[in-house]
Amino acid sequence: MIFSRITGTGGYLPEKILTNQDLERMVETTDEWIRERTGIEKRHIAAEHQSTVDLAEQAARRALESAGIEGKDLDLIIVATTTPDRIFPSTACLLQDRIGANGCAAFDVQAVCTGFVYALGVADKFIRAGGTKRALVVGAETLSRIVDWTDRTTCVLFGDGAGAVVLEASEEAGILSTHLHADGRYDSLLTVPGGVSQNAALCREGRAFIQMKGNEVFKVAVNTLGRIVDETLDAAGLEKSDIDWLVPHQANTRIIAATAKKLDLPMERVVLTVGQHGNTSAASVPLALDVAVRDGRIRRGDMLLLEAFGGGFTWGSALVRF
Ligand code: COA
Repeated sequence: MIFSRITGTGGYLPEKILTNQDLERMVETTDEWIRERTGIEKRHIAAEHQSTVDLAEQAARRALESAGIEGKDLDLIIVATTTPDRIFPSTACLLQDRIGANGCAAFDVQAVCTGFVYALGVADKFIRAGGTKRALVVGAETLSRIVDWTDRTTCVLFGDGAGAVVLEASEEAGILSTHLHADGRYDSLLTVPGGVSQNAALCREGRAFIQMKGNEVFKVAVNTLGRIVDETLDAAGLEKSDIDWLVPHQANTRIIAATAKKLDLPMERVVLTVGQHGNTSAASVPLALDVAVRDGRIRRGDMLLLEAFGGGFTWGSALVRF
């Protein structure tokens, strides 16, 4: 049997930091409100000259370095992003050229905040099917470009960043299972309502921004993530106590705490970066993973549960023997 294993991780956050105190000067909000309702203290914002591929490149280089391989060794690149550099070529193609991986398959995946988990699931299937030996899976976002900085209900939540993993074919099981879902009936609760083909004027006028009914998204997210924890454990025949680390999508500490409670997992066993990163959408799970791998919390052999929920709605999980 061929499996895929994570052999390297990388992350990148742009230099510029936007604190809650900075936001107090921009909209009618308080540091206290933001921290109490979301757990967020600060977020990173891409410089004007930086685009999604710039962030992705830094994360990718770090992941390749930690796996001990080069771009030319890759067979596949998947970039999960909601904020691609251009309509086309895909951000994955732009990244491929930056890291000298020319010739391999490269494409983007769009599943908003669940994008990285989707991309990981797709790459895992490529490797299990045979043929693909080494894949780079990236989550990268410049969400600050689709945030309405005058809307206090959304602008305090999001940040920019990129995270990446290298997956390699292995006889040892690494990615044990992935579970991907979507339900398009919730499109109006969380959306950027303008695009290339619909409401294009919003894009032309620079008004294509995130709109969210936060309270309703919150309730669906908590329920849905609770269900996917059961689905993932049942599929693998595992007990809650078999999970060493929860590596969740970083949208809100209260949503994460509800999922940890469902797993009977103390918060010390949850990788929490939302306070420092905000919600970086598709970048949030690989960024959190990289942080905990580099600071030595997550070690080889640990059992990880990765999960995410986002616009679409989309949601998914991955069970990973690291
Ligand atoms: N500062 C101060 N007050 C704010 C505010 C801000 N930044 N944003 C909203 N408020 C106000 C609201 O206007 C509302 O006031 P009102 O009671 O006078 O109408 C009040 O705070 C409560 O708003 P509500 O939306 O009910 O708060 P909440 O407890 O649900 O928290 C979120 C809001 C967005 C933090 C929370 O709903 C959330 O995290 N939702 C899920 C977000 C998410 O996961 N999104 C992405 C999925 S990937």
